[in-house]
Amino acid sequence: MINELYRVLRPLLFRALPPETAHDLALLALRSGLFPRAGKIDNPSLRVTLWDRVFPNPVGLAGGFDKNAAALRGLFGLGFGFIEAGTVTPRPQNGNPRPRIFRCPEHEAVINRMGFPNQGLTAFRRNLESFLEKRPRPAGLVGISIGMNKAQTEPEKDYVQLVRALGPLADYLAINVSSPNTPGLRDLQQKKPLTDLLNRVMEERARVCAAAPPPVLLKLMPDLDAPQLAEIADVAQECSVDGVILTNTTLARPDNLPSAFAGEKGGLSGAPVREKSTRMIRDFYALTEGKIPVVGVGGIFTARDAYDKIRAGASLVQVYTGFVYQGPFIAADICRDLPALLHADGLSHIGQAVGADHKRKTTAA
Ligand SMILES: Cc1cc2nc3c(=O)[nH]c(=O)nc-3n(C[C@H](O)[C@H](O)[C@H](O)COP(=O)(O)O)c2cc1C
Repeated sequence: MINELYRVLRPLLFRALPPETAHDLALLALRSGLFPRAGKIDNPSLRVTLWDRVFPNPVGLAGGFDKNAAALRGLFGLGFGFIEAGTVTPRPQNGNPRPRIFRCPEHEAVINRMGFPNQGLTAFRRNLESFLEKRPRPAGLVGISIGMNKAQTEPEKDYVQLVRALGPLADYLAINVSSPNTPGLRDLQQKKPLTDLLNRVMEERARVCAAAPPPVLLKLMPDLDAPQLAEIADVAQECSVDGVILTNTTLARPDNLPSAFAGEKGGLSGAPVREKSTRMIRDFYALTEGKIPVVGVGGIFTARDAYDKIRAGASLVQVYTGFVYQGPFIAADICRDLPALLHADGLSHIGQAVGADHKRKTTAA
Protein backbone atom coordinates (compact mmCIF):
# COMPACT_ATOMS: atom_id res chain seq x y z
CA MET A 1 0.00 0.00 0.00
CA ILE A 2 2.76 2.46 1.01
CA ASN A 3 4.78 1.48 -2.07
CA GLU A 4 1.75 1.89 -4.34
CA LEU A 5 1.14 5.35 -2.92
CA TYR A 6 4.83 6.17 -3.29
CA ARG A 7 4.79 5.18 -6.95
CA VAL A 8 1.74 7.38 -7.61
CA LEU A 9 3.41 10.36 -5.91
CA ARG A 10 6.87 9.61 -7.30
CA PRO A 11 6.76 11.95 -10.34
CA LEU A 12 5.75 14.80 -8.04
CA LEU A 13 8.41 13.93 -5.49
CA PHE A 14 11.09 13.65 -8.17
CA ARG A 15 10.10 17.02 -9.61
CA ALA A 16 10.03 18.74 -6.23
CA LEU A 17 13.15 17.26 -4.68
CA PRO A 18 16.64 16.90 -6.14
CA PRO A 19 17.98 13.36 -5.51
CA GLU A 20 20.29 14.17 -2.64
CA THR A 21 17.70 16.37 -0.88
CA ALA A 22 15.22 13.48 -1.13
CA HIS A 23 17.84 11.14 0.29
CA ASP A 24 18.66 13.48 3.19
CA LEU A 25 14.97 14.00 4.00
CA ALA A 26 14.32 10.24 3.93
CA LEU A 27 17.19 9.69 6.38
CA LEU A 28 15.86 12.45 8.62
CA ALA A 29 12.37 10.92 8.64
CA LEU A 30 13.80 7.47 9.35
CA ARG A 31 15.89 8.82 12.23
CA SER A 32 12.92 10.66 13.72
CA GLY A 33 11.04 7.38 14.14
CA LEU A 34 8.01 8.92 12.39
CA PHE A 35 8.34 6.77 9.29
CA PRO A 36 5.71 4.02 8.83
CA ARG A 37 6.87 0.48 9.54
CA ALA A 38 6.41 -2.62 7.41
CA GLY A 39 4.51 -5.42 9.09
CA LYS A 40 6.66 -8.13 10.67
CA ILE A 41 8.37 -10.31 8.07
CA ASP A 42 8.74 -13.68 9.68
CA ASN A 43 8.72 -16.47 7.15
CA PRO A 44 10.94 -19.45 8.06
CA SER A 45 11.31 -20.31 4.36
CA LEU A 46 13.21 -17.03 3.85
CA ARG A 47 15.50 -17.21 6.88
CA VAL A 48 19.17 -17.55 5.88
CA THR A 49 21.90 -18.96 8.12
CA LEU A 50 25.32 -17.98 6.86
CA TRP A 51 28.67 -17.51 8.58
CA ASP A 52 27.01 -18.76 11.81
CA ARG A 53 24.64 -15.82 11.68
CA VAL A 54 20.89 -15.78 11.11
CA PHE A 55 19.52 -13.31 8.56
CA PRO A 56 15.75 -13.01 9.18
CA ASN A 57 15.29 -12.61 5.42
CA PRO A 58 17.69 -12.42 2.46
CA VAL A 59 16.94 -8.84 1.36
CA GLY A 60 19.38 -6.18 2.55
CA LEU A 61 20.00 -2.49 2.00
CA ALA A 62 23.18 -1.99 -0.02
CA GLY A 63 26.19 0.09 1.01
CA GLY A 64 26.01 3.85 0.61
CA PHE A 65 22.51 4.69 1.77
CA ASP A 66 23.19 5.05 5.49
CA LYS A 67 26.80 6.18 5.32
CA ASN A 68 27.03 7.19 8.99
CA ALA A 69 24.96 4.36 10.54
CA ALA A 70 22.56 7.07 11.66
CA ALA A 71 19.17 5.58 10.75
CA LEU A 72 19.55 1.84 11.35
CA ARG A 73 16.53 1.39 13.59
CA GLY A 74 14.19 3.19 11.16
CA LEU A 75 15.61 1.26 8.21
CA PHE A 76 15.08 -2.09 9.91
CA GLY A 77 11.46 -1.02 10.41
CA LEU A 78 11.10 -1.15 6.61
CA GLY A 79 11.71 -4.90 6.65
CA PHE A 80 15.36 -5.28 5.62
CA GLY A 81 17.00 -8.50 6.76
CA PHE A 82 20.36 -6.72 6.94
CA ILE A 83 21.82 -3.30 6.36
CA GLU A 84 25.27 -2.47 5.05
CA ALA A 85 26.17 0.79 6.76
CA GLY A 86 28.92 3.04 5.29
CA THR A 87 31.03 3.29 3.26
CA VAL A 88 32.89 4.89 6.15
CA THR A 89 36.41 6.30 5.95
CA PRO A 90 38.69 7.00 8.93
CA ARG A 91 38.49 10.80 8.69
CA PRO A 92 35.38 12.83 7.83
CA GLN A 93 35.26 14.09 4.23
CA ASN A 94 32.84 16.09 2.10
CA GLY A 95 32.94 14.05 -1.09
CA ASN A 96 32.54 15.63 -4.51
CA PRO A 97 30.71 18.92 -5.14
CA ARG A 98 26.91 18.76 -5.57
CA PRO A 99 24.98 17.86 -7.66
CA ARG A 100 26.43 14.38 -7.60
CA ILE A 101 23.39 12.09 -7.89
CA PHE A 102 21.32 11.98 -11.10
CA ARG A 103 18.11 10.07 -11.81
CA CYS A 104 16.84 8.73 -15.13
CA PRO A 105 13.30 7.46 -14.38
CA GLU A 106 12.61 6.29 -17.96
CA HIS A 107 15.45 3.80 -17.58
CA GLU A 108 15.04 3.22 -13.82
CA ALA A 109 18.65 4.26 -13.41
CA VAL A 110 20.83 6.47 -11.24
CA ILE A 111 24.34 7.86 -11.73
CA ASN A 112 26.27 8.93 -8.65
CA ARG A 113 29.68 10.43 -8.03
CA MET A 114 29.36 10.94 -4.28
CA GLY A 115 33.02 10.22 -3.46
CA PHE A 116 32.36 8.78 0.04
CA PRO A 117 30.98 11.83 1.85
CA ASN A 118 30.77 10.75 5.48
CA GLN A 119 31.31 11.95 9.04
CA GLY A 120 34.25 9.64 9.66
CA LEU A 121 34.99 6.77 11.98
CA THR A 122 34.35 8.46 15.34
CA ALA A 123 30.84 9.62 14.49
CA PHE A 124 30.05 6.29 12.78
CA ARG A 125 31.11 4.30 15.83
CA ARG A 126 29.12 6.52 18.19
CA ASN A 127 25.97 6.04 16.08
CA LEU A 128 26.47 2.31 15.78
CA GLU A 129 27.11 1.84 19.49
CA SER A 130 23.97 3.71 20.42
CA PHE A 131 21.99 1.50 18.00
CA LEU A 132 23.54 -1.67 19.44
CA GLU A 133 22.95 -0.64 23.06
CA LYS A 134 19.26 0.10 22.69
CA ARG A 135 16.97 -2.85 23.50
CA PRO A 136 15.20 -4.63 22.01
CA ARG A 137 17.56 -4.83 19.04
CA PRO A 138 15.88 -5.48 15.69
CA ALA A 139 16.50 -9.02 14.37
CA GLY A 140 18.38 -7.82 11.27
CA LEU A 141 22.17 -7.79 10.94
CA VAL A 142 24.51 -4.86 10.37
CA GLY A 143 27.37 -5.09 7.90
CA ILE A 144 29.95 -2.30 7.78
CA SER A 145 31.38 -1.11 4.49
CA ILE A 146 34.86 0.35 4.83
CA GLY A 147 36.88 2.45 2.39
CA MET A 148 39.80 4.82 2.26
CA ASN A 149 39.96 8.60 2.46
CA LYS A 150 40.52 10.39 -0.83
CA ALA A 151 43.84 11.86 0.34
CA GLN A 152 45.24 8.52 1.57
CA THR A 153 48.24 7.31 -0.43
CA GLU A 154 48.67 4.09 1.58
CA PRO A 155 45.22 2.45 1.39
CA GLU A 156 45.98 -0.49 3.74
CA LYS A 157 46.48 1.97 6.62
CA ASP A 158 42.87 3.19 6.36
CA TYR A 159 41.38 -0.28 5.95
CA VAL A 160 43.40 -1.68 8.86
CA GLN A 161 42.41 1.22 11.11
CA LEU A 162 38.75 0.64 10.29
CA VAL A 163 38.97 -3.12 10.86
CA ARG A 164 40.53 -2.44 14.26
CA ALA A 165 37.91 0.11 15.30
CA LEU A 166 34.78 -1.41 13.78
CA GLY A 167 35.48 -5.13 13.34
CA PRO A 168 34.34 -6.01 16.87
CA LEU A 169 30.98 -4.28 16.26
CA ALA A 170 30.23 -5.69 12.81
CA ASP A 171 28.08 -8.64 11.76
CA TYR A 172 30.27 -8.56 8.66
CA LEU A 173 32.87 -6.25 7.13
CA ALA A 174 32.62 -5.24 3.46
CA ILE A 175 35.92 -4.25 1.91
CA ASN A 176 34.91 -1.70 -0.70
CA VAL A 177 37.50 -1.59 -3.46
CA SER A 178 35.03 -0.91 -6.24
CA SER A 179 33.49 2.55 -5.94
CA PRO A 180 34.43 4.52 -9.05
CA ASN A 181 34.56 7.93 -7.35
CA THR A 182 37.73 7.69 -5.25
CA PRO A 183 40.84 7.96 -7.43
CA GLY A 184 42.92 4.77 -7.35
CA LEU A 185 40.37 2.74 -5.34
CA ARG A 186 39.42 0.37 -8.14
CA ASP A 187 43.10 -0.41 -8.79
CA LEU A 188 43.03 -2.30 -5.50
CA GLN A 189 41.20 -5.05 -7.40
CA GLN A 190 44.46 -6.00 -9.15
CA LYS A 191 46.10 -9.18 -7.95
CA LYS A 192 49.12 -7.91 -5.99
CA PRO A 193 47.53 -4.91 -4.24
CA LEU A 194 44.41 -6.97 -3.50
CA THR A 195 46.39 -9.85 -2.00
CA ASP A 196 48.44 -7.48 0.14
CA LEU A 197 45.35 -5.60 1.30
CA LEU A 198 43.39 -8.74 2.15
CA ASN A 199 46.31 -10.27 4.03
CA ARG A 200 46.61 -7.12 6.17
CA VAL A 201 42.86 -7.03 6.78
CA MET A 202 42.77 -10.71 7.79
CA GLU A 203 45.76 -10.28 10.12
CA GLU A 204 44.16 -7.31 11.83
CA ARG A 205 40.84 -9.10 12.13
CA ALA A 206 42.53 -12.08 13.80
CA ARG A 207 44.31 -9.71 16.20
CA VAL A 208 41.31 -7.64 17.28
CA CYS A 209 38.45 -10.11 16.99
CA ALA A 210 40.06 -13.42 17.91
CA ALA A 211 37.00 -14.66 19.81
CA ALA A 212 34.30 -13.83 17.25
CA PRO A 213 35.79 -12.67 13.96
CA PRO A 214 33.25 -11.01 11.64
CA PRO A 215 33.16 -12.44 8.11
CA VAL A 216 35.12 -10.36 5.60
CA LEU A 217 33.38 -9.73 2.27
CA LEU A 218 34.92 -8.15 -0.80
CA LYS A 219 32.79 -5.81 -2.93
CA LEU A 220 33.67 -5.80 -6.64
CA MET A 221 32.84 -3.71 -9.69
CA PRO A 222 30.86 -5.13 -12.62
CA ASP A 223 33.43 -3.87 -15.12
CA LEU A 224 35.90 -6.74 -14.60
CA ASP A 225 36.62 -8.91 -17.63
CA ALA A 226 36.65 -12.72 -17.42
CA PRO A 227 40.42 -13.10 -16.72
CA GLN A 228 40.28 -10.39 -14.03
CA LEU A 229 37.32 -12.09 -12.35
CA ALA A 230 39.09 -15.46 -12.46
CA GLU A 231 42.19 -13.91 -10.90
CA ILE A 232 40.15 -12.31 -8.13
CA ALA A 233 38.33 -15.59 -7.49
CA ASP A 234 41.75 -17.19 -6.92
CA VAL A 235 42.90 -14.40 -4.62
CA ALA A 236 39.64 -14.56 -2.68
CA GLN A 237 40.13 -18.27 -2.08
CA GLU A 238 43.84 -17.97 -1.23
CA CYS A 239 43.16 -15.18 1.24
CA SER A 240 40.16 -17.04 2.75
CA VAL A 241 37.71 -14.25 2.04
CA ASP A 242 34.34 -15.21 3.53
CA GLY A 243 32.13 -13.75 0.81
CA VAL A 244 31.86 -11.36 -2.13
CA ILE A 245 29.35 -8.64 -2.93
CA LEU A 246 28.54 -8.50 -6.64
CA THR A 247 28.32 -5.76 -7.77
CA ASN A 248 29.00 -2.08 -7.30
CA THR A 249 28.00 0.52 -9.92
CA THR A 250 29.34 0.45 -13.49
CA LEU A 251 31.34 3.00 -15.45
CA ALA A 252 29.87 1.59 -18.68
CA ARG A 253 27.00 3.40 -20.42
CA PRO A 254 24.54 1.36 -22.48
CA ASP A 255 23.80 3.03 -25.87
CA ASN A 256 20.12 3.54 -25.18
CA LEU A 257 20.54 5.98 -22.28
CA PRO A 258 19.75 9.65 -23.01
CA SER A 259 23.05 11.39 -23.74
CA ALA A 260 22.66 14.18 -21.14
CA PHE A 261 22.25 11.56 -18.41
CA ALA A 262 24.85 9.15 -19.80
CA GLY A 263 27.34 12.02 -19.98
CA GLU A 264 27.36 12.52 -16.20
CA LYS A 265 30.53 11.17 -14.59
CA GLY A 266 30.16 8.47 -11.96
CA GLY A 267 28.78 4.99 -11.36
CA LEU A 268 25.58 3.84 -13.05
CA SER A 269 23.12 1.71 -11.07
CA GLY A 270 19.60 0.34 -11.36
CA ALA A 271 17.98 -1.50 -14.26
CA PRO A 272 20.90 -1.03 -16.72
CA VAL A 273 23.29 -2.91 -14.41
CA ARG A 274 20.88 -5.78 -13.62
CA GLU A 275 21.99 -8.33 -16.23
CA LYS A 276 25.66 -7.48 -15.95
CA SER A 277 25.65 -8.06 -12.22
CA THR A 278 23.66 -11.32 -12.51
CA ARG A 279 26.13 -12.57 -15.12
CA MET A 280 29.03 -11.83 -12.80
CA ILE A 281 27.33 -13.69 -9.95
CA ARG A 282 26.83 -16.68 -12.25
CA ASP A 283 30.46 -16.61 -13.42
CA PHE A 284 31.88 -16.20 -9.92
CA TYR A 285 29.73 -19.01 -8.54
CA ALA A 286 30.92 -21.29 -11.35
CA LEU A 287 34.59 -20.30 -10.89
CA THR A 288 34.50 -21.03 -7.15
CA GLU A 289 32.05 -23.95 -7.39
CA GLY A 290 29.81 -22.08 -4.98
CA LYS A 291 32.39 -22.27 -2.18
CA ILE A 292 32.42 -18.53 -1.47
CA PRO A 293 28.98 -17.12 -0.62
CA VAL A 294 27.81 -14.26 -2.83
CA VAL A 295 25.68 -11.24 -1.96
CA GLY A 296 23.91 -10.20 -5.18
CA VAL A 297 23.22 -6.54 -5.90
CA GLY A 298 22.50 -4.50 -9.00
CA GLY A 299 19.14 -3.57 -10.48
CA ILE A 300 16.94 -5.57 -8.10
CA PHE A 301 13.45 -4.07 -8.20
CA THR A 302 11.19 -7.10 -7.76
CA ALA A 303 11.14 -10.58 -6.23
CA ARG A 304 11.79 -11.95 -9.74
CA ASP A 305 14.99 -9.88 -10.01
CA ALA A 306 16.11 -11.06 -6.58
CA TYR A 307 15.26 -14.67 -7.39
CA ASP A 308 17.23 -14.55 -10.67
CA LYS A 309 20.32 -13.53 -8.71
CA ILE A 310 19.71 -16.22 -6.09
CA ARG A 311 19.35 -18.89 -8.78
CA ALA A 312 22.56 -17.57 -10.38
CA GLY A 313 24.37 -18.11 -7.07
CA ALA A 314 23.58 -15.36 -4.56
CA SER A 315 22.87 -16.42 -0.97
CA LEU A 316 21.67 -12.94 -0.04
CA VAL A 317 20.63 -9.88 -2.08
CA GLN A 318 20.71 -6.13 -1.62
CA VAL A 319 18.90 -3.15 -3.11
CA TYR A 320 19.72 0.53 -3.48
CA THR A 321 18.31 2.05 -6.70
CA GLY A 322 15.19 -0.15 -6.40
CA PHE A 323 14.56 1.55 -3.06
CA VAL A 324 14.48 4.90 -4.91
CA TYR A 325 12.11 3.74 -7.67
CA GLN A 326 9.92 1.10 -6.02
CA GLY A 327 9.46 2.72 -2.64
CA PRO A 328 10.47 2.33 0.98
CA PHE A 329 8.82 -1.08 1.45
CA ILE A 330 10.68 -2.78 -1.39
CA ALA A 331 12.18 -5.40 0.96
CA ALA A 332 8.76 -6.24 2.36
CA ASP A 333 7.32 -6.55 -1.17
CA ILE A 334 10.16 -8.82 -2.32
CA CYS A 335 9.77 -11.02 0.78
CA ARG A 336 6.01 -11.23 0.19
CA ASP A 337 6.49 -12.40 -3.41
CA LEU A 338 9.52 -14.71 -3.08
CA PRO A 339 7.69 -17.72 -1.58
CA ALA A 340 5.46 -18.02 -4.69
CA LEU A 341 8.58 -18.22 -6.89
CA LEU A 342 10.08 -20.88 -4.64
CA HIS A 343 6.83 -22.78 -4.71
CA ALA A 344 6.64 -22.64 -8.53
CA ASP A 345 10.06 -24.33 -8.64
CA GLY A 346 8.93 -26.99 -6.17
CA LEU A 347 11.22 -25.62 -3.43
CA SER A 348 10.37 -25.01 0.20
CA HIS A 349 13.35 -22.94 1.40
CA ILE A 350 15.33 -20.10 -0.15
CA GLY A 351 18.61 -21.94 0.48
CA GLN A 352 17.54 -24.62 -2.01
CA ALA A 353 17.37 -22.01 -4.78
CA VAL A 354 20.93 -20.71 -4.32
CA GLY A 355 22.86 -21.61 -7.48
CA ALA A 356 19.93 -23.67 -8.81
CA ASP A 357 20.72 -22.61 -12.39
CA HIS A 358 24.09 -24.36 -12.15
CA LYS A 359 22.61 -27.55 -10.77
CA ARG A 360 20.21 -27.69 -13.67
CA LYS A 361 23.11 -27.28 -16.11
CA THR A 362 25.12 -30.00 -14.39
CA THR A 363 22.16 -32.36 -14.42
CA ALA A 364 21.48 -31.64 -18.08
CA ALA A 365 25.12 -32.20 -19.05
C1 LIG B 1 23.79 7.25 -4.48
C2 LIG B 1 24.56 5.97 -4.33
C3 LIG B 1 25.59 5.89 -3.38
C4 LIG B 1 26.32 4.70 -3.24
N1 LIG B 1 27.31 4.64 -2.29
C5 LIG B 1 27.97 3.47 -2.09
C6 LIG B 1 28.93 3.35 -1.05
O1 LIG B 1 29.22 4.30 -0.31
N2 LIG B 1 29.55 2.14 -0.90
C7 LIG B 1 29.25 1.06 -1.68
O2 LIG B 1 29.82 -0.02 -1.48
N3 LIG B 1 28.34 1.15 -2.67
C8 LIG B 1 27.69 2.32 -2.88
N4 LIG B 1 26.74 2.38 -3.86
C9 LIG B 1 26.50 1.21 -4.74
C10 LIG B 1 25.34 0.36 -4.24
O3 LIG B 1 25.59 -0.17 -2.97
C11 LIG B 1 25.09 -0.81 -5.24
O4 LIG B 1 26.19 -1.67 -5.22
C12 LIG B 1 24.85 -0.37 -6.66
O5 LIG B 1 24.12 0.84 -6.69
C13 LIG B 1 24.09 -1.41 -7.50
O6 LIG B 1 22.85 -1.73 -6.92
P1 LIG B 1 21.45 -1.04 -7.33
O7 LIG B 1 21.31 -1.18 -8.81
O8 LIG B 1 20.41 -1.77 -6.52
O9 LIG B 1 21.56 0.39 -6.93
C14 LIG B 1 26.02 3.58 -4.04
C15 LIG B 1 24.98 3.66 -4.98
C16 LIG B 1 24.25 4.83 -5.12
C17 LIG B 1 23.13 4.88 -6.15
